[in-house]
Amino acid sequence: METITTLSKNTIQSILKNASIYKQNDTRNTLFQNKIFGLLFFEPSTRTSLSFESAIHRFGGKIIRYNSQISSEKKGEDLEDTIKTLDAYVDILIIRHPNKNIISTIKQYTHKPIINAGNGDGEHPTQALLDLFTIMESFPNFPTKIAFTGDIKYSRTIHSLLQLLTLWNPSIFYYFICDTQLEPPDFILNQLQPNSYSIKNTLHEDIIETIDVLYVTRLQKERFINENVSNIIITKDLLKNSKQNLIIMHPLPRNDEIPKEFDTDPRSKYFEQVKNGVYVRMAILYHILQKN
Ligand code: NCD
Repeated sequence: METITTLSKNTIQSILKNASIYKQNDTRNTLFQNKIFGLLFFEPSTRTSLSFESAIHRFGGKIIRYNSQISSEKKGEDLEDTIKTLDAYVDILIIRHPNKNIISTIKQYTHKPIINAGNGDGEHPTQALLDLFTIMESFPNFPTKIAFTGDIKYSRTIHSLLQLLTLWNPSIFYYFICDTQLEPPDFILNQLQPNSYSIKNTLHEDIIETIDVLYVTRLQKERFINENVSNIIITKDLLKNSKQNLIIMHPLPRNDEIPKEFDTDPRSKYFEQVKNGVYVRMAILYHILQKN
């Protein structure tokens, strides 16, 4: 699972189906009790790393966690030697790294399966699958209009979800609502039909009234230096005339773009995304390891 772009429809379908079974049964077994999973997180993470750990534990797997703060990286070791070392210790590598090209780089040093848990401002394929799973739970026949707000330029979760939705090929209309400096990058826009999206700088009620999914993100301040950008903040008042079945999503972590008062709002699905992350990542591990 290095990128979303090479997944077939069959694979996506089977991952979503298995995730749904794991969720229904809250599955635990010993399927991967003989497997060793390497977790290498070179950027902060709460949900992605811990949901992978939870998914691995549910299959009885063993975890080795690389910690760059207490490793030989501090003595000047380079990534090549680190990856070659991990290659000797684990059966699969799950990696998050600030460098967008990390996956092609480490593939030179290991032939073990790699899961991309976030490569800079590039992709986040496992998040996209759990986001799609969450959308499908509310809209089995697909939503028709989705609004993305926040940092659309740097949000790898938005990039991957858009690629996944395009691959799935439904005719969805997208609104991108963000500061002018955070508009979608060309590599994303080039994959969309010209008439299938609209870019706006403010979120108005007329958009809220027509959309099925509102996907909110924080500003990725660690990826840009300009302090002069503002985020879209949602309010109960702004959302008062939403469709009844609108869902509000967020990959988390949040800053102030979704006030806590939304947490008990039935439209909010961000903690459901958190929960689904475990089951979808179990299905991803199963998909990758059953073949090895
Ligand atoms: C996101 C990420 O790391 O890309 N979080 C996540 O994995 N759920 C979003 C973010 O950091 O803003």
